Amino acid sequence: MEKYITNSEEETKEFAKEFAKKLKIGDVVILSGDLGSGKTKFVEGVLSNFGLENEISSPTFTIVNEYKKDDINIYHFDVYRLEDSDEFYAIGGEEYFEKGICLIEWGEIIEDALPNKYIKINFKRNIEDDNKREINIDYVGE
Ligand SMILES: Nc1ncnc2c1ncn2[C@@H]1O[C@H](COP(=O)(O)OP(=O)(O)OP(=O)(O)O)[C@@H](O)[C@H]1O
Ligand SMILES: [Mg+2]
Repeated sequence: MEKYITNSEEETKEFAKEFAKKLKIGDVVILSGDLGSGKTKFVEGVLSNFGLENEISSPTFTIVNEYKKDDINIYHFDVYRLEDSDEFYAIGGEEYFEKGICLIEWGEIIEDALPNKYIKINFKRNIEDDNKREINIDYVGE
């Protein structure tokens, strides 16, 4: 388990941009943590590493948004509205895993549909400082 602290939205995006350099096709990253804890900001940072700044869209009822840079597909899921992994299978969710890099907000909801190896990132707010986040990274299955 790796633990990091960020002190602003910008720091989280910068951290995510750096983290993204290690990502490759087939990687699955799940992002967990309360509403407003920074999951989408992290995804924004990841996208910026691929030259996809300011491209992020978060339509309320879209489960997956697709991005493409050169030969790399990036799939940004938000599975908050899914009940369980059965609903994820129903939308063909696991077919995305091999096709690109998957970033899945609230991914713990579909944890039993995930591949054996995935990266789990948890975001924790801080009661004293509204701009502080604790970020824990766990390489599951390694
Ligand atoms: N250190 C920090 N890192 C990330 N975001 C921060 C930080 N400090 C403050 N914020 C603020 O917290 C909010 C995080 O919003 P974000 O949409 O990323 O949350 P989320 O975890 O995706 O929520 P949801 O579960 O609703 O999708 C933003 O308003 C951002 O400006
Ligand atoms: Mg979000």
